[in-house]
Amino acid sequence: MIPAPKILVRVTAALLVLGVTAFVAACASSSGDAPARDTPRLSASAAWDVIYDVLQSPRCLNCHPAGDTPLVGDESLPHPQNVRRGPNGSGVFGMRCDTCHQDRNLSDAHLPPGAPNWHLPHPALPLIFEGRDKSALCEQLRDPARNGRKSPAQLAEHMLHDPLVLWGWDPGPGRAAVPIPREVFDAAVEDWVAGDCGCPDDDG
Ligand code: HEC
Ligand code: HEC
Repeated sequence: MIPAPKILVRVTAALLVLGVTAFVAACASSSGDAPARDTPRLSASAAWDVIYDVLQSPRCLNCHPAGDTPLVGDESLPHPQNVRRGPNGSGVFGMRCDTCHQDRNLSDAHLPPGAPNWHLPHPALPLIFEGRDKSALCEQLRDPARNGRKSPAQLAEHMLHDPLVLWGWDPGPGRAAVPIPREVFDAAVEDWVAGDCGCPDDDG
């Protein structure tokens, strides 16, 4: 049995630790820092390496093709049935994306996957990832003229929260999720923006 004064000491010590933890947490959040996380901070270039691998994974690449046809599957083959980007990214008359794609995945492999507002980027701003090397894609993504007039914060917001991006980690039956864990990607996005969206050619 532990004598009463010892219990008191322990309780006081525990309260102190709790108090200090709460204080530190409050400081971190009020200074605008990102919340605590398990992954180490990365330099902008190491963070971009992670982001690039995600952007080039089939789940993302398939909607960011070089041509006007979306791509399908892990081999990124042209979408069957002559599906095209169309005048605003939502397909052509009679073959609109939402004719087949719903706002959620269907329950069998090879049925259309889905997420809210399933479509390709607009033809005036096609946001092509296919065939872009590490340097070219980085420059494109941080250039407001080519990324849809997005600030770094808005770009991060899109990559952290857009339903079409999140779908990559929940792609439905028969399709592999993006091979990089989502928390690793999210942390890399934070670090890239914190590192002023540094690109491979910046140092020389
Ligand atoms: C179903 C198609 C689709 C999928 C899948 C998709 N995207 Fe996109 N993405 C778009 C469209 C369309 C836009 C243009 C913005 C808009 O119209 O919503 C876009 C824009 C972007 C942008 C540019 C930011 C901006 O708002 O201009 C980034 C970065 C991006 N996507 C990353 C990803 C990543 C990462 C994945 C995979 C995890 C992914 N996308 C999967 C359709 C898709
Ligand atoms: C006639 C129906 C139909 C239309 C219209 C259609 N799709 Fe699909 N789509 C499908 C089916 C079915 C699949 C699943 C193919 C499979 O997994 O074998 C699919 C798969 C996809 C995939 C592959 C996802 C992945 O990563 O493997 C993308 C991307 C896609 N569609 C984009 C679009 C876009 C963008 C539009 C509009 C421009 C569109 N689709 C219009 C039926 C359609």
